Amino acid sequence: MTPALLPPRYSILVVGSLNMDMVLEVSRMPLPGESLVGQRYSRIPGGKGANQAVGLARLGATVTLAGKVGKDADGARLVEVLKKEGIATNFVFAAEKTATGLAVILLDNTGQNAIVTYPGANLDLNEADILKAFAAGSFDALMLQLEVPDEIIISSCQLAKKMGIPAFVDAGPARPFPLERIRGIDVLSPNETELLALTGIEVTSIADAELGAAELISRSNAKAVVIKLGAAGALLRTAEGMGEHFPAHKVNVVDSTAAGDAFAAALMIRYLETSDLRKSVTYANLAGALAATKLGAQPSLPTALEIEVLRQQGQGGRRLHV
Ligand code: RIB
Repeated sequence: MTPALLPPRYSILVVGSLNMDMVLEVSRMPLPGESLVGQRYSRIPGGKGANQAVGLARLGATVTLAGKVGKDADGARLVEVLKKEGIATNFVFAAEKTATGLAVILLDNTGQNAIVTYPGANLDLNEADILKAFAAGSFDALMLQLEVPDEIIISSCQLAKKMGIPAFVDAGPARPFPLERIRGIDVLSPNETELLALTGIEVTSIADAELGAAELISRSNAKAVVIKLGAAGALLRTAEGMGEHFPAHKVNVVDSTAAGDAFAAALMIRYLETSDLRKSVTYANLAGALAATKLGAQPSLPTALEIEVLRQQGQGGRRLHV
């Protein structure tokens, strides 16, 4: 009998942040100056780099995370959780004097959140740290976000180029970034608030997202830009000028934290498997929707099986070409 062919396991280097998320559930967001009593409080592993590493591992990738935590209980816990996911953490270094990054997350009962991060040790990640990680293995792709210093993001993209591997940049959190210094990346993916911070373009329609995507392509020379539009789905724009809008899947939103991270991980995996951006965005939309149905960052990241189940339920709307 011929053995069934297993899909390839891609080896991915994630260079990014680790945070302890302090999640406070509230009936509604407080007004400026107002004190509210929260309903429930949890400490949940997060940070965009660690979340995407977990998302990739749950989709079958072999993942190495390069990052930095403090020498404290939160740092130890975050690393331990990643190890349980099978992620290589030998390049998650411990800063001597800085505390582990943290995020304070207010979550209201519509699933809407507001996040403030204290970067802590994430900003201590340095060039020598990432050089060690790049030298350690042969990777199929690089995944980055904007929660570590600019110079680390820029050097990582240059190293990926030298190694001839694709670089995906998830453009969160919302902040300005010199995109001209990472020219030649493969995929750049902001959400609406991140697009606003990068371009000054406010997204009130698909046409606005299309305009922003075109600007991002021209500044970063990315092969493709994928704008995450939350409940409105995602917009794909390629350097060749192809544009397509993919509606979101309707789910019961509990907490949108890390929906973007689930989306980023799924987008990358499906792109490595198929080289097909349209299939990849469709898959990423499913992953993002699923992540929004559960509380917390890392606990909400879906497996390939969970995504397949949602796909078979066949929800989601009509595609709109733009
Ligand atoms: O993308 C979600 C993440 O953003 C949270 O886990 C929080 O740590 C912030 O980094």
